Amino acid sequence: MGISDKANSFKIGIAGLGTVGVGVVKILQENAELVAKRAGRTIEIVSVTAANKDKDRGVDLSSYEWVENLNDMATDERLDCVVELIGGSEGPVLEMVETAIGSGKDVVTANKALMAHHGYRLAGLAEEKDSAIAYEAGVAGGIPVIKTLREGLAANKVESVSGILNGTCNYILSDMRVSGRNFDEVLKEAQEKGYAEADPTFDVDGIDTAHKLTLLAALGFGAKPDFDALETQGIRYITAEDINFADELGYRIKLLGTAKVQGEKIMQAVEPCLVPTNSTLGRTSDVYNAVLVQAQPVWKNVSVGLGAGEGPTASSVVADIIDLARDHKHPIFGVPANDLESVKWGGSDDFVAPYYMRFEVEKSAEAQEGIKEKLEQAGVGVEKTLMKDGFVVAMSKAVSGGDVRAAVKDIAEEAVILRIEE
Ligand SMILES: NC(=O)c1ccc[n+]([C@@H]2O[C@H](COP(=O)([O-])OP(=O)(O)OC[C@H]3O[C@@H](n4cnc5c(N)ncnc54)[C@H](OP(=O)(O)O)[C@@H]3O)[C@@H](O)[C@H]2O)c1
Repeated sequence: MGISDKANSFKIGIAGLGTVGVGVVKILQENAELVAKRAGRTIEIVSVTAANKDKDRGVDLSSYEWVENLNDMATDERLDCVVELIGGSEGPVLEMVETAIGSGKDVVTANKALMAHHGYRLAGLAEEKDSAIAYEAGVAGGIPVIKTLREGLAANKVESVSGILNGTCNYILSDMRVSGRNFDEVLKEAQEKGYAEADPTFDVDGIDTAHKLTLLAALGFGAKPDFDALETQGIRYITAEDINFADELGYRIKLLGTAKVQGEKIMQAVEPCLVPTNSTLGRTSDVYNAVLVQAQPVWKNVSVGLGAGEGPTASSVVADIIDLARDHKHPIFGVPANDLESVKWGGSDDFVAPYYMRFEVEKSAEAQEGIKEKLEQAGVGVEKTLMKDGFVVAMSKAVSGGDVRAAVKDIAEEAVILRIEE
């Protein structure tokens, strides 16, 4: 049988024809021959569906069946694979994915929320049915970071996974630095330009980053994915002043998702952090994402690329389809679901690191000295301080997040505290 033999084709249904779904249809139409060679057989779109049948999507869908009901696609015996590109972690989408797996089909999805909340259970179900769930596009869009962790670095013991995983936040923080404008102003413009959603909560409050970090931590540490164990803070409280002070100290502020081994625990948090200006994370600006893995014996592995958008995301979806067409199935989190461990998670307060603290004060040298003294009395070593525009900024020596927060609470009612990731 040749690669263009229809009887041997890998038959898919695509649910969701928005930004990513249309991108996938375009690749499968425009690069059909190339994709078939790489997959070893033709990828045949049998059926498609979306909320509104009559919408003009700028692609020719006339040769595909339109399915009215998600369940009909999930149970269609002709299909090898359902490609879920709708989004949302509950309701009909979850039901469709469960039904598709339950009826022995593979699933490809870009849906990190679904995988972060239900991935563990879905992985068990898929193993029972000998089907696969592939979700490369769900984490860092066009960067093949799941493949990197699960396959490329399979020989390694992972020590930490850290990344800029949300392009919208990175764009906002980069713009605030360059323009000197505050968060609200930059967010509003990003919404007008279509870089941020009308409801930006998932992005700017760190939830999207938390979904992605949940999956990376599971893959990196062979741990049961546990979204609820993850502390999450967004970027709304970062001011133009913080960005300027960070700059002056040789740092950039980035929303980081970090999971790292520290003693018996795996520490994890999503929070804005200072990273050195000249580091990979510091140099990753605008809508770019970056993922840094530290592992033994490889030492450091860095991936940078576009984390969202039609092309990058669809690229990862099609790569997963090709893998499955070749029958390359991998345990969903790198090891069988039963072997995933319940680990001891730590949070923000347990991270031992240097910290940045900003206090609003009366302008006086005594205020600067006073804060330094009080921090040191409370057991927080101070590396340096600076005073400017009615603020004192202090950089601590390595200390736990809990200790630094307790010390600051006794000094000021309000202060900004950010971890420094060296
Ligand atoms: N956009 C990105 O850059 C990106 C990056 C990484 C991951 N993702 C993930 O990819 C998934 C899709 O994102 P997207 O940006 O492509 O979303 P989108 O543009 O909003 O598209 C969603 C699609 O789902 C359809 N839909 C909504 N409810 C439906 C229902 N009940 N039944 C059938 N179809 C339904 C919509 O139909 P209509 O078109 O008719 O309204 C639309 O075609 C999400 O999980 C998202 O998190 C997106």
